[in-house]
Amino acid sequence: MEVFEAIKTRRSIRSYKNIPVEKEKLLKVLEAARLAPSAVNFQPWTFIVVTDPVVKQKLKASYQSDWFTSAPVIIIACAHPNKAWKKFDGEEYWKVDVAIAMQNLILAAWEEGLGTCWIGAFKEDEAKRVLGIPSDVRIVAMTPLGYPAEEKGPVTNRKPLDEIVRYEHW
Ligand SMILES: Cc1cc2nc3c(=O)[nH]c(=O)nc-3n(C[C@H](O)[C@H](O)[C@H](O)COP(=O)(O)O)c2cc1C
Repeated sequence: MEVFEAIKTRRSIRSYKNIPVEKEKLLKVLEAARLAPSAVNFQPWTFIVVTDPVVKQKLKASYQSDWFTSAPVIIIACAHPNKAWKKFDGEEYWKVDVAIAMQNLILAAWEEGLGTCWIGAFKEDEAKRVLGIPSDVRIVAMTPLGYPAEEKGPVTNRKPLDEIVRYEHW
């Protein structure tokens, strides 16, 4: 699948088939995250892959929805703020770095026929407790990963270019 085709057709999937994700496909989407660019190439991230049904159920404490835990895989994208680049003005880049890696993963998954849904509205403290994540590590996003059990058309509901682009000046 062409990159632009994946960008145009990828949708947030909130219903998953009860089919496991093949190891090679899982490794491919993780590889897509690994290859992402990051500020100063610091790669300040760790991805936790959860397939154990018991752990998935426990993760409900952080995001209460059945479709989230019904996916065969849940990926938790973590950042290491202490190992990430800080700009001269103190601006921190760990969220940006992990978000880019996550989008790589999401698009690579779509190419493999796998759905995802960026989860941002999770309770971080609950997820960290369930997964034993150290206090200096932050969770940027989570996503279920699996074969979609719903069909959605391509992306349509976006602002038009003339509303979001300005040329030469503000
Ligand atoms: C930063 C971010 C946080 C999001 N958090 C959630 C979430 O907590 N739960 C959810 O169901 N979808 C979440 N989404 C998915 C968005 O609702 C979805 O991407 C948006 O409505 C556009 O739909 P589409 O992905 O199908 O094109 C999030 C997306 C982003 C980028």
